[in-house]
Amino acid sequence: ALPDVPSEHPAASYLLHVNGVDRPVSDAWIGESLLYVLRERLGLAGAKDGCSQGECGACNVQVDGRLVASCLVPAATAAGSEVRTVEGLAADGEPSDVQRALSACGAVQCGFCIPGMAMTVHDLLEGNHAPTELETRQALCGNLCRCSGYRGVLDAVADVVAAREANAEAAATAAPDEARIPHQAEPGAGGVQQGPHPHEGEVL
Ligand code: FES
Ligand code: FES
Repeated sequence: ALPDVPSEHPAASYLLHVNGVDRPVSDAWIGESLLYVLRERLGLAGAKDGCSQGECGACNVQVDGRLVASCLVPAATAAGSEVRTVEGLAADGEPSDVQRALSACGAVQCGFCIPGMAMTVHDLLEGNHAPTELETRQALCGNLCRCSGYRGVLDAVADVVAAREANAEAAATAAPDEARIPHQAEPGAGGVQQGPHPHEGEVL
């Protein structure tokens, strides 16, 4: 009998958690990238394959809240992590504010880079609610666009920041008391014993 030679293409089965849903992956070559698995095995074609080598940002997704080039991440290493793709940005079937602003500002030309751009902008605004234009440019420096010249993306980020600030201000004006006065518990709700101690009078 031939000796048991280890396969050059070992397969693995694992569970990815993508946009809040468990997605099992079965018998996949251990070296498959997260981008490949998302697109070819799970049918999530939002992330794009622009270069397969970490240069263009078209494949950007978040893994445990960190922006990554999914073409460089072996999918099996993302098992047990929270993966968020561009498909997870919409809420109730509506595109996110970032996606709408990208469209409104003319950033979407051929559109190939936009899923990655949208992920980068969401990631930026999660960590920095009011980035300067320089900070936005730095955040976008890993996202290549061959059509729009980036002006529309910068405008979109500025618009989203302004709209979110206006919404926050409107919410604070609508509920000024809640904004100013710290929450106070009802009397007795804070763990202070009002009645007799449950063991009072017991002979121990
Ligand atoms: S496809 Fe991943 S960075 Fe270009
Ligand atoms: S819109 Fe075409 S590459 Fe960006």
